[in-house]
Amino acid sequence: MSDIRFDNRVAIVTGAGGGLGRSHALLLASRGAKVVVNDLGGSVDGSGGGAEKAADKVVDEIKAGGGEAVANYDGVDTWEGAQKIVATAKDAFGKVDIVINNAGILRDVSFMKMQEGDWHKVLAVHLNGSCFVSKAAWPLLRENQYGRIVFTTSAAGLYGNFGQANYSAAKLGIVGLAKTLAHEGAKYNIKSNVIAPIAKSRMTETVMPPNMLEKLLPEFVSPLVAYLCSDQCEESAQTYSVGGGYVSRVAIVEGAGIIIDGKGGHAPEDVVAKWKEINDLSEAKPFANMTEAAGHVMKGALG
Ligand code: NAI
Repeated sequence: MSDIRFDNRVAIVTGAGGGLGRSHALLLASRGAKVVVNDLGGSVDGSGGGAEKAADKVVDEIKAGGGEAVANYDGVDTWEGAQKIVATAKDAFGKVDIVINNAGILRDVSFMKMQEGDWHKVLAVHLNGSCFVSKAAWPLLRENQYGRIVFTTSAAGLYGNFGQANYSAAKLGIVGLAKTLAHEGAKYNIKSNVIAPIAKSRMTETVMPPNMLEKLLPEFVSPLVAYLCSDQCEESAQTYSVGGGYVSRVAIVEGAGIIIDGKGGHAPEDVVAKWKEINDLSEAKPFANMTEAAGHVMKGALG
């Protein structure tokens, strides 16, 4: 297998002023990518901002290592901000090949106490931001006949987590977005995949003990991201759980299911009678697209 390189590739990494984004940006740049380091600064809950230093520091690190990078300080959460992020890449490097949607904030609060603003802001940064930046880059990726997009979900989105209704909704929305872009991008050689990371960052510093965090460095997540961004990656529409050296595919699967023959009508009791089989995932499988999944239902239902 040849080395993974990004020579002549232009990458946008959102939220790259620290944590995972910084690590992704440094790795890609060290392997030849020209990188737009996007970050508006700000605190974990999305307040503040305008601290240009975070992105500038990462650009300086990349340049000190002999790489090429420019900073961008726009928010991913507005349509205009996303357009400016992509324009920064176009102006500095002439194109976009890779988009890593990583920027994120947290506003954890129980559903009972959640305010309207907590919902809107978290969806704006994670879900709208991932969409807007991908959308701004999309025509350039299609023009290139090449694109690699990596989205960032979370176990909270895939499985749910107390106090994270806003965050988990946004994060699972990202998975749906990524899958549809994978289908729409297929004929243009645009691959779209998702990571669900666990890593030490300011987001996790307050919820995990230091000895655990030291085993979960962002640098252990970035190699998967680099592979998913590379020419060698043929995967699309996939999700991977990654952290501390662990990497695994995550899938939405559907069981073999049952058929209610309907001879005696379709009653709730028919469902209860087959509850064990309905919940049996021993023959579960993932589907490549909606048509395949709908076909599974139709085949069972229509024979
Ligand atoms: P982090 O807080 O270090 O990084 C997020 C970055 O996004 C920050 O530098 C922040 O300034 C930037 N940002 C926030 N709003 C922005 C906006 N509107 N426009 C541009 N940049 C903005 O946290 P971390 O952990 O590195 O998070 C990176 C991504 O990974 C996030 O999407 C997060 O939800 C996700 N994630 C992280 C996990 C972990 O264990 N660290 C677990 C699961 C998901």
